[in-house]
Amino acid sequence: MDLRYSRSIPAAALLVLSSVGILLLVLPAREVETPPETMYGIVLDAGSSHTSMYIYKWPADKLNGTGIVTQHSQCDAKGGGISSYAGVRGGAAESLKACLDQAVKDIPKSRHRQTPLYLGATAGMRLLKINNATETDRILKEVENKLRSYPFEFKEAVILSGQQEGAYGWVTVNYLHENFAKYGFVGRWLNPGRETTGALDLGGASTQITFETSEQVEDGDNLMELKLYGQTHRLYTHSYLCYGQDQFLRKLMAHLIMTQGVKPEVSHPCYPQRFNMSIKLGRDVFNSPCTKNHTSAPFDPQMTVQVFGTGDYHNCLSTVKRMFSFDKCPYSRCSFDGVFQPSVRGSFMAFSAFFFIHRDLSILADMAITTASQMEEAVRRVCIMTISEITAKTKQPEKFLKNICATSNYMQVLLTQGYRFDNVSFPSISFQEKVEGASVGWALGFMLSLSNLVPAESCGQMTALPSGPWACVLLLFITLLLVALAYLLISHIKTRADKDMV
Ligand SMILES: *[C@@H]1O[C@H](CO)[C@@H](O)[C@H](O)[C@H]1NC(C)=O
Ligand SMILES: *[C@@H]1O[C@H](CO)[C@@H](O)[C@H](O)[C@H]1NC(C)=O
Ligand SMILES: *[C@@H]1O[C@H](CO)[C@@H](O)[C@H](O)[C@H]1NC(C)=O
Ligand SMILES: *[C@@H]1O[C@H](CO)[C@@H](O)[C@H](O)[C@H]1NC(C)=O
Ligand SMILES: *[C@@H]1O[C@H](CO)[C@@H](O)[C@H](O)[C@H]1NC(C)=O
Repeated sequence: MDLRYSRSIPAAALLVLSSVGILLLVLPAREVETPPETMYGIVLDAGSSHTSMYIYKWPADKLNGTGIVTQHSQCDAKGGGISSYAGVRGGAAESLKACLDQAVKDIPKSRHRQTPLYLGATAGMRLLKINNATETDRILKEVENKLRSYPFEFKEAVILSGQQEGAYGWVTVNYLHENFAKYGFVGRWLNPGRETTGALDLGGASTQITFETSEQVEDGDNLMELKLYGQTHRLYTHSYLCYGQDQFLRKLMAHLIMTQGVKPEVSHPCYPQRFNMSIKLGRDVFNSPCTKNHTSAPFDPQMTVQVFGTGDYHNCLSTVKRMFSFDKCPYSRCSFDGVFQPSVRGSFMAFSAFFFIHRDLSILADMAITTASQMEEAVRRVCIMTISEITAKTKQPEKFLKNICATSNYMQVLLTQGYRFDNVSFPSISFQEKVEGASVGWALGFMLSLSNLVPAESCGQMTALPSGPWACVLLLFITLLLVALAYLLISHIKTRADKDMV
């Protein structure tokens, strides 16, 4: 009698357990859900030429979604980048005040404490660190103290490495394209199984190229493996310091001054004909680590030099080419300056300054630019235009466009001879500033990664089969329930039979 009861106990326990399991799975979860709230996050992109603030938002109940985080607002801080305040106490912190005050107004008060706040600095601060590490740390600390004085949840103020900057830009591009995961119309996450898009970023002090590759990456510094939604992406990434457009222009100027000799007048083949301007050798050319290598003769940093434009396409192109080194390569293949690069493949998105150069070039040359030869033709047309033609056509001030021949030649050489986009692969580059209202840059990818908004593991819901795992678990519990019932029934029948025998 005792033995028979004790044999039924596990079965009874299983019965209770599976019933509870089924109830838990079947009862609607909605009853315990709070109404969806909006979450916010702030990223300050402290670039070399200026700082931008981006506020993102997403519904609180769809934490791990792709295509769910959107840009709420943006603010461009007045003045230069934080690195330009070297030696100016309080300057960097003060420059961020207006944007942070705007964030206080843009985000509902009740959400302030839960809003993460990040600041990422890029190549401008990397360069300053080469020149003066203590001053760099002081600026970061000063900026951090400023951010902490606001009611948000301060996370960190850091200098991103070139690899991080490249990889976060790539995450942004592919997140906005919904290449990782897509929120399907049935309210389920789907893996679209699409190829990812490469990222081309051109800043003021550095430029980044990042794309997924299956080729061997011969320099370990260029390899990044990212696990997103349960899939591993093998990325090739490189950040070229001193190849941002501002630093490149400085190097070009330094090269012209050094080859023509330090004298009061210097001719510039990339400036429009008859255009002239005066520069100070110290302030405008040689006070950057990027131009240090171009100085041979001693010079007076206070010396003023008059620069005259000659508007000479061929001379400009060949001078720009000379700024790259295409000969030495310690690997099986290189882009330039001895940097390993596998061949580009798939589609690319070119953003930040690439977008603006491409846009201005198309407007000025009056043509669409989708192929390498179209770009060459457009650059050729633009380089012979006068400064008044240029400003009239773009309706932008002289200071933004005096360099258009130089920067478009630079873009042409970088893309075709550096990265080796050819007639076949060039058309797969799309030049864009924004996708779905969100600015393309590293900031969004940085916040998504640091706040776990793009999980490494595939989320349970992400499946092409609606409710797949949920249905499996339910089936398991039902099976257990049936097994327990069958066992109890059999042992009951056996008990009756035993009794009848007695
Ligand atoms: C770094 O910058 C600070 C502030 O401008 C200056 O006082 C200091 O001498 C600099 N240090 C070096 C090594 O240049
Ligand atoms: C330099 O440019 C100014 C206009 O910006 C013009 O008035 C002046 O004549 C130019 N000088 C020379 C020598 O071409
Ligand atoms: C300057 O030249 C040295 C030695 O040739 C090199 O190691 C360094 O990376 C160069 N610096 C820049 C900013 O190009
Ligand atoms: C690309 O096209 C241009 C002009 O059509 C041609 O000169 C060039 O050789 C082509 N390049 C390649 C790699 O096919
Ligand atoms: C989101 O992802 C994190 C980390 O991968 C996980 O712990 C969390 O449960 C997920 N949240 C949702 C709502 O899926």
